[in-house]
Amino acid sequence: MAQKVDILLLGSGGREHALLKKLSESPMAGRLYVAPGNGGMLQLAQQAPVDQDSPADVAAWAKANGIGLVVIGPEAPLVEGVGDAVRAQGIPVFGPNADAAQMEGSKEFAKKVMERAGVPTARYRSFTDEASCADYVRQLGGPCVVKADGLAAGKGVIVAQTTEQALEGVSECFGGHFGDAGRTVIVEEMLEGPECSLLALTDGKTLVPLATSQDHKRAQDGDRGPNTGGMGVYSPVPILLPGELDAMVDIEKRVVAELASEGITYSGCLYGGFMLTKDGPKVLEFNARFGDPETQVVLPRMKGDLVEAFLACDNGTLSPDMVAWDDDWAVSVVLTSAGYPGSYRKDLPITGIDDANAMPGVTVYHAGTKLADDGTVLTNGGRVLDVTAVAPTFEDARNLAYQACDKIFFEGKTYRHDIGIKAIKGRANL
Ligand code: AMP
Ligand code: GLY
Repeated sequence: MAQKVDILLLGSGGREHALLKKLSESPMAGRLYVAPGNGGMLQLAQQAPVDQDSPADVAAWAKANGIGLVVIGPEAPLVEGVGDAVRAQGIPVFGPNADAAQMEGSKEFAKKVMERAGVPTARYRSFTDEASCADYVRQLGGPCVVKADGLAAGKGVIVAQTTEQALEGVSECFGGHFGDAGRTVIVEEMLEGPECSLLALTDGKTLVPLATSQDHKRAQDGDRGPNTGGMGVYSPVPILLPGELDAMVDIEKRVVAELASEGITYSGCLYGGFMLTKDGPKVLEFNARFGDPETQVVLPRMKGDLVEAFLACDNGTLSPDMVAWDDDWAVSVVLTSAGYPGSYRKDLPITGIDDANAMPGVTVYHAGTKLADDGTVLTNGGRVLDVTAVAPTFEDARNLAYQACDKIFFEGKTYRHDIGIKAIKGRANL
């Protein structure tokens, strides 16, 4: 019997609930702690009294409590150096150190690594002053994409169809709209094609791809309305052409190898966001962590011991046989609070979660929820629950997810009704 490991997981979203559930299924999982966690996570784990963004706080608590693995869910603690501080205590960490987390923390850093690695991505220029940036946008005179360099909670990207929209984006970035994240601004060419995410585990030498997935970022059916943190997702992506998966895997391997050759060990999850262009997959962005809600469809299909794989990422012993896949399909629909991504109400009671979870193939992951003193689950955020269904066909998974959504109720429950429709219609529509 493998030795048990006590685990501290940082984060509070649906991604972290999915990570926690998979970790809890490992025979190696000892005591489970979360900081801060959510209503669903706190049914599986105890809350640790630490600030997830404070390297010193997390490292000291993990040391004092004999933690054997710290798993970092979101990007901010990675970029803050929580991984470095915990590793300095001799404690294994899942998630890259701050230097490697720059792949997400700075778009300019990531672009330069991609250039040196010879990886296909949109052509770009970066600017630190507004006037030259605006001049360049006028010179391009058409569609382009304007991006704040730093972390902007997924909001610092303006996909501009016209010069006017691009100039507005430039002035938002430099006008402090995205805080320090907008001090450097990237302008890049607009790419066209369907999008595909590929998460991969890596220890800095070996890269093991996980399954492909596709997020739905817009708030309303038909990809209308504002961008959100993600309204639904499925896995795998059924419309890949021959060679596209291999090309994406090769790109991620080249990036990890390039970083290694520069003295930077990337260990953890590397998340590549790709555009499947007519010239092959090109990188839109890299994230230094699991995707949310992608994790909620990728992990339920994964076979293998997540504790073993995460420890192997940290200590350089990752191997491809640690991960295998079900042939099943997964579809997840995000239930949100009315008004999201704008303002919304909180503290509304939720019913029906147990009924949905009781359906074979269905798992409800909590995102913005909390527990009342009497154990009632209450809404506590914009994205409230991720209703994931796994089934032998794409259509069955999709139907099952929506049947499960019907079992759950809270005031203002809002969701997209067309998650996965485009995939069923085929490549031209994705
Ligand atoms: P990012 O956070 O960089 O992934 O950008 C958010 C979204 O903006 C992506 O999922 C794409 O839909 C879109 N996007 C980003 N870069 C480009 C690009 N160069 N061309 C077209 N769309 C883009
Ligand atoms: N689903 C997008 C992200 O995790 O960044």
